[in-house]
Amino acid sequence: MAKDTLTVTDNRTGKTFELDIADGSIRAMDFRQMKISDDDFGLLVYDPSLLNTASCKSSVTYIDGDKGILRYRGYPIEELAEHSSYMETAYLIVKGELPDEQHLNDWSYNITMHTMVHQNIEKFMDGFRYDAHPMGMLVSTCAALSTFYPDAKEIFDVESRRLQARRLLGKMPTLAALAYRHSLGLPYVLPDNDLSYAGNFLSMMFKMTEQKFQPKPAFERALDVLFILHADHEQNCSANAARAVGSSQVDPYSAIASATAALYGPLHGGANEAVINMLNEIQSVDRIPEFIEGVKKGEAKLMGFGHRIYKNYDPRARIIQEIAHDVFEETGKNPLIDIAKELERIALGDDYFIERKLYPNVDFYSGIIYQAMGFPVSMFPVLFAIGRTSGWLAQWSEMVTDEEQKITRPRQLYLGEDIRHYLPIYKRPEPMTKERRLLLERL
Ligand code: CMC
Repeated sequence: MAKDTLTVTDNRTGKTFELDIADGSIRAMDFRQMKISDDDFGLLVYDPSLLNTASCKSSVTYIDGDKGILRYRGYPIEELAEHSSYMETAYLIVKGELPDEQHLNDWSYNITMHTMVHQNIEKFMDGFRYDAHPMGMLVSTCAALSTFYPDAKEIFDVESRRLQARRLLGKMPTLAALAYRHSLGLPYVLPDNDLSYAGNFLSMMFKMTEQKFQPKPAFERALDVLFILHADHEQNCSANAARAVGSSQVDPYSAIASATAALYGPLHGGANEAVINMLNEIQSVDRIPEFIEGVKKGEAKLMGFGHRIYKNYDPRARIIQEIAHDVFEETGKNPLIDIAKELERIALGDDYFIERKLYPNVDFYSGIIYQAMGFPVSMFPVLFAIGRTSGWLAQWSEMVTDEEQKITRPRQLYLGEDIRHYLPIYKRPEPMTKERRLLLERL
């Protein structure tokens, strides 16, 4: 009869072990009993970059990368993008259920009441150079929030966790807008609590001398949907950073600052910025074949294509294309969209991309919309971070309340030198061997 177990024979000793299979996985710790002697540490599981390791149990986000499915707490992304708001989706992600009207109003009100930041944060922002990247400013000021809220250290107190969640969701757009205004030397704009979450962010970004900023409805909705699309994506690099750093029981501002730093990289949230740079470099549709040839030779990457999980069309990229039309009706077409569409068409018909299952991801089209709305390229990953804050909070909170989780501390396979004894500098062999020189050059 079929059993939910895995039988493993260790051919070094001839011993056989029966390991339990649960939820389609085996426990890496079960391998530690496989030893060649009593003082052997036991077998380790080697998995660089955690390609095949489930590091947690989660009920936040479900992805089927082969089918191109994304659901938050069971709800398909397409339905949320069409019918929900970011405030409602953030509630769903953080709390696990869709709210009733009263809870949604309270949630939105509580977050809105936390949009202001301490004036010292503005001074802190003033200390950055005029050309500082806004992601660097966001990472630093997010981390700095921990110094303003020492109560955030009470991570096992549910009321404290809720309060920090409201603060972080309220303040991330404010920090983002401060970073932008600082880079332009513009005066900071106070939050406008009459406006929606996305509308207030647009106001803090773009308000000039008018008494009251009125966001364009198409922009407000597009941004809100983009926040929904970016809200969570299970155990990606930044969520993993939030969990790993948070597992030391540090406060959530520090954990989420580390997640923001992870998002900054060009292989993660920085990809939308890289897509625009790539499209600008290509310049025109007739230069696409040449660019694609370069990608196939390994000279460049097709940014905004490929995904560790999706081996099919990223469902978010499909929704983003629909929003693009609404935004372009307001702004006129961003000429880069023609290059992007043709690039997609050629890539999807090319064996290199077909064989590797490389499809457009969320970042392929998002930057084109952001650019049409007036956001500078350097702000793109910042917009990603605002939306993703709800996901980081949910992942962090799930980790904190999971009794199985301990401080994250992977093992290594040590392949370095065996013991060597210290020699005073005048006794060290000269000249340096070629191997040592090569090694030092790599460090
Ligand atoms: N352009 C050209 N070739 C690619 C690309 C690309 N964008 N992505 C993957 N490949 C190739 C890669 O060279 C490799 O080929 P080979 O088997 O011949 O060595 C093969 O496809 C498998 O790629 P991989 O690097 O092993 O895949 P990965 O799962 O480690 O990387 C990725 C995933 C997203 C980092 C990668 O696809 C990539 O760098 N894409 C471009 C950057 C990007 O758009 N990032 C945004 C991801 S979505 C937003 C987010 O979640 O942050």
